[in-house]
Amino acid sequence: MATDSNRFQAIISHCKEYGFIFPSSEIYDGLSAVYDYGQWGTELKRNIRDHWWRSMTQFHENIVGIDAAIFMHPTTWKASGHVDNFSDPMIDNKDSKKRYRVDHLLEAHADELEKQGDAAGAKAVIARMDELLAASDYDGLKKLIETLDIKCAISGTNNWTDVRQFNLMFSTQLGSVSEEANEIYLRPETAQGIFVNFLNVQKTGRMKIPFGIAQVGKAFRNEIVARQFIFRMREFEQMEMQFFIRPGTQKEWYEFWKEERMKWHRSLGIPAEKFKFHDHVKLAHYADAACDIEYEFPIGFKEVEGIHSRTDFDLRNHQEYSKKKMTYHDPELNQSYIPYVIETSIGLDRTVMMLLSEAYTEEDLSTADKKDSRSVLKFPAALAPIKLAVLPLTKKDGLPEIGKDIMNTCKGYFKCFYEEKDTIGKRYRRMDAIGTPFCVTVDHQTKDDGTVTIRYRDSMEQERIAISEIKNAVESKLKLTY
Ligand code: GAP
Repeated sequence: MATDSNRFQAIISHCKEYGFIFPSSEIYDGLSAVYDYGQWGTELKRNIRDHWWRSMTQFHENIVGIDAAIFMHPTTWKASGHVDNFSDPMIDNKDSKKRYRVDHLLEAHADELEKQGDAAGAKAVIARMDELLAASDYDGLKKLIETLDIKCAISGTNNWTDVRQFNLMFSTQLGSVSEEANEIYLRPETAQGIFVNFLNVQKTGRMKIPFGIAQVGKAFRNEIVARQFIFRMREFEQMEMQFFIRPGTQKEWYEFWKEERMKWHRSLGIPAEKFKFHDHVKLAHYADAACDIEYEFPIGFKEVEGIHSRTDFDLRNHQEYSKKKMTYHDPELNQSYIPYVIETSIGLDRTVMMLLSEAYTEEDLSTADKKDSRSVLKFPAALAPIKLAVLPLTKKDGLPEIGKDIMNTCKGYFKCFYEEKDTIGKRYRRMDAIGTPFCVTVDHQTKDDGTVTIRYRDSMEQERIAISEIKNAVESKLKLTY
């Protein structure tokens, strides 16, 4: 059984063993902080993405979605402030030459204090760090690291450089002839694709403020401390929504979206106490208020989603740099203005990790005569990679043919999986391990009365139902209410 401290490692191993997530280019020993999704991880991720997309663009009549390119004109990133400001305070260890993000180094130290039972000490470190970060006091941060005698994990020394800022954007060349090539960036957030298309969407969609534009897509950051599995990657996916509002109404819309997004997280069947808000002390260069929704991962409470009141910072800067008007004419006020924006920005990969952390369960099923256990992923049925497994008890006597008929009836409605190999017990365990909520077994009684055994993943209870009821029985459990 995994204890709390090794639960995280158990989840990582489970993901690899059962086709959810693999280290990227593993045959070449992998690439740091880059991961590939396997067959079941891809289905899980797609289901979460679809649920978010529907929640935004179908449940909210005033939100539409777009799909902008990853490459954008380089001036975009000058205007957005990313060229000048998208950096983190870093510190290098002079002996190992290893570079660390200052906040991560201090947070790890605070975690260590907490583990040793010094919760007050841990709190004091974080409070002091927040103060120094808010004041951009880099000398103070270095002094704090030295005072706490924090050492590099590799060299074991506390021989630190000064704290410096390090830009997180990846750049590449556009064009084949190097003298003519332009430096462009891989987008570090999807949001700018929305801002530069704000008027295209507003005009062609005849959108009236307040309205939102949603987008899902890849983002890239040259993270320095890239560890903790898919929590912090160099290539990852964001699901972002920019909500355009009248200036002066940002406080109420900020509160609205905080509640709305928390409601969404709870709709995933995760208990309320596993979430908390964390208000930002040091605001990003574009924000006048910001908070995170944190989930309690096996590695502690960590950010899954950010909610930011971005003022008119982005649209105003794009107007200035592009010399194109970014104003909206409000017919009710008969006034033109640059809208303010509330942003909700959630990491798709972190949401995958949250659902895996919540779902992963090890159960001891031992009886007096026999030792037994199972690993099961208790996903909400709607998000599970496979909804229904069809398992003929044997490979003969016409049972596979009945199983194939069930597959043909159901596979147009939800993801089904057919398997005849191995004992039924082993097949159930494999389906538990990838989180399949329903298995139906075709046996000899099926030939007599047209019924199958349906087995429920979480309770492991079984009952007989008619073949004709299977599709509705499964489909009725696939709704996620929001
Ligand atoms: N447009 C605003 C923005 O990008 P952010 O807080 O930097 O804000 C939003 O990122 C979300 O993207 C985070 O809450 C997190 O879930 C996800 N995210 C950020 N960096 C990530 C990384 N390196 N790996 C995985 N997910 C990341």
